[in-house]
Amino acid sequence: MIKYDVIIAGSGIAALQLARRLQDHLNVMIITKNHVTDSNSYLAQGGVAAPVGKMDTVDLHVKDTLTAGCFQQSPETVENVIRDGKRIIEYLIDEGAPFDRRNGGELALGMEGAHSHPRILHSGGDQTGKYIIEYLLAALTEKVRLVQGEMVYELIMNDRGRCCGVKTKREDGSTASYAAHHVVLATGGAGSLYSVSSNAPEVTGDGMALAFLAGAELTDMEFIQFHPTLLSLGGKTGGLISEAVRGEGAFLINDAGERIMEGVHPQMELAPRHIVAERLNQELLEGRKVFLNITSIKDFESKFPSITKMCKHHGISLSQGKIPVSPGCHFTMGGIVTDEHGKTTIEGLYAIGEAACTGLHGANRLASNSLLEGLVFGERLAWHLVSSPRHPETWSTIFKAPEQGDHRPGITFTRQELKERMTRDAGIIRDQKGLSRHLEWLKAQAFTFGEELDNMSREGIQLYLMWVVSMLITQSALLRTESRGGHIRSDYPIENNEDWFKRSLFLCKENHQ
Ligand code: SIN
Repeated sequence: MIKYDVIIAGSGIAALQLARRLQDHLNVMIITKNHVTDSNSYLAQGGVAAPVGKMDTVDLHVKDTLTAGCFQQSPETVENVIRDGKRIIEYLIDEGAPFDRRNGGELALGMEGAHSHPRILHSGGDQTGKYIIEYLLAALTEKVRLVQGEMVYELIMNDRGRCCGVKTKREDGSTASYAAHHVVLATGGAGSLYSVSSNAPEVTGDGMALAFLAGAELTDMEFIQFHPTLLSLGGKTGGLISEAVRGEGAFLINDAGERIMEGVHPQMELAPRHIVAERLNQELLEGRKVFLNITSIKDFESKFPSITKMCKHHGISLSQGKIPVSPGCHFTMGGIVTDEHGKTTIEGLYAIGEAACTGLHGANRLASNSLLEGLVFGERLAWHLVSSPRHPETWSTIFKAPEQGDHRPGITFTRQELKERMTRDAGIIRDQKGLSRHLEWLKAQAFTFGEELDNMSREGIQLYLMWVVSMLITQSALLRTESRGGHIRSDYPIENNEDWFKRSLFLCKENHQ
């Protein structure tokens, strides 16, 4: 049995910020399912939002965050996160983090949807996540143990209900278990439960499923953000076309050359994401194609090098000045309920980053607030853990060595089938009929919420965890009989403030037997 002070599952921005802050104080291990850079953070294009511009303020950023989130958040949480985020970003700037500058001078602050001020810091044009993750990785010392290619498949609980370790499975089916005083889930959201998604393929909601199965509370799982502009490749996608492209002046047209956001919202293409995504989806349903017109952007290739590369890779020529786009799953607003430090409802278990629901995003996340949230909660949790007592009972818990197994208990569906059904029935526009059909299909699979996983193959476990989170999203989406932010019901098309304003659906295993 290998023992640590802190085990962090996942390797995105929140995980690395936490590890960097802990490394001189506690003994830390990061476990990640594949390679350390396989995360949504690494893919982030647009950037990280913070009110650091001359005319900007914390209050304005708070107001924009609340408006985009349809006021489903706690204003106090939002204000504290933005305030801490500003301080942390200023620290990173002073420290020399590689944010882009205009002609090497002042910070190049970009604009994105639903922001009232330019406040998006970016790096390498549209390679912000890559630069920041590499920056944070470079700051880690050999004191942090990094284990790649192991999937955490179960949380180890002691008989007093405290989380005190994890079980993992490798590609070859071999298993391991590790004990820790504190276990942190930083495994990201659930965007790759959908067939059209901007997310890294690894991002399948694993941490959410693990927490739920261990008895932690989750909330807001129906609020899923669909990004309006993914590169459209005939029903598939080549990846994200950052909102920063619209922030630089690109606009949306259909194949008749009409501007599709005209008359829809005063901020046009820079309206909150769910509004642009819904409008764009409507055009596609009516049989038209939609394009981003980029003709007004000077030096597109140098401003957006990774988007340029992606378009070229897929044979899309930028010389015509238009990029075909369609919406795709992008972000999970809900997740594991945490307090202001990242503590979940289970002792010894924490969640940070997209896996958590901290109360910042409400019904729809404001653009570029996710990297900010990861930095803030990575740091807050670090200081909390440094001053938390260690739990001797962790080491007295009996750890049964998990067996190696390759069993697949009657699974008859594939990842692709699940993702296509999620996209069709629990996707950007939902209704009772589609959601019920999907729930029935999920219930008909050979899984329950109490599977024995030690003997199961890694792919079997992966499908199981995806099934768990799909159940939670579908059930929550069925229950919320209104439309709000990232949850759009065609059969309940308006916000129903009387029944649903600031009302969250809390899920825990006891309610789902
Ligand atoms: C984007 O670059 O459009 C995505 C940024 C974000 O999701 O916050």
